[in-house]
Amino acid sequence: MPMPMHELDAFEDTLVERFREHPVLANIALLPDEDFAALLLQRRFVSLAFTPSYDLAIDLLRDEAGRRIARVILREEYPGGDGHTPSHREDMTHDLRRLGVSRQALVASRPTAATRRAIGDAFELIAESGAHDNCDLRLLTVLRFWGEVLVSVEYGRLWERMGPLFSPAGESRSRFYHPHHVHDAKTQPLARVSLLSGSHSDRLAARVTELLAREESSDCFKELEERSVQLKTVFYDQFLPALDRVGV
Ligand SMILES: [Fe+2]
Repeated sequence: MPMPMHELDAFEDTLVERFREHPVLANIALLPDEDFAALLLQRRFVSLAFTPSYDLAIDLLRDEAGRRIARVILREEYPGGDGHTPSHREDMTHDLRRLGVSRQALVASRPTAATRRAIGDAFELIAESGAHDNCDLRLLTVLRFWGEVLVSVEYGRLWERMGPLFSPAGESRSRFYHPHHVHDAKTQPLARVSLLSGSHSDRLAARVTELLAREESSDCFKELEERSVQLKTVFYDQFLPALDRVGV
């Protein structure tokens, strides 16, 4: 028997809380400006790898319903067909510039070994998920948890520091971090997820829960969520020395 949905909710909420308390995320306000900028520049490379991750997962999905949810989310990253609308990745760079990251710093920045590992391991997790009989459940679980639920947690933490630097409306509002914190979030428990919910996590959850209901066990769901947290934890661990320098 698969685990009851409310138990899986409790399981993933515990993982989310543990990740939210990662020392770097929990103490984001204490990082020196240059370390915060370095973190944002490294995190940008993970964002640049986000759309190819979705493409890889879509390639491996066999479930048409799941593929459609993933395709829609992927296309939302590139609004407008006429070339006049910036993509979400361009919106990220716009926000970075607002936060004082210079074009020169952007141009000069390269992924660290830890960042490259975080990206490579995410591709590996997706590729590996595609090799199983229940690949659809696995792939959608990774897209949802690694690509949406945890991203919302990350941006929520980053926003604690960035929020005051943006204004709530107009030209200097956040175009990337705050909107993604909101639209990627888990807003409903798995036990009560509805297709009517608009958040990326919830839309994927609608199919994940249907596929989970057909499974004998929820072990793969739990394992993949744990590995997703692990990937992201390793990424943030690289900034622990910056916290040490400010005595946290
Ligand atoms: Fe999203």
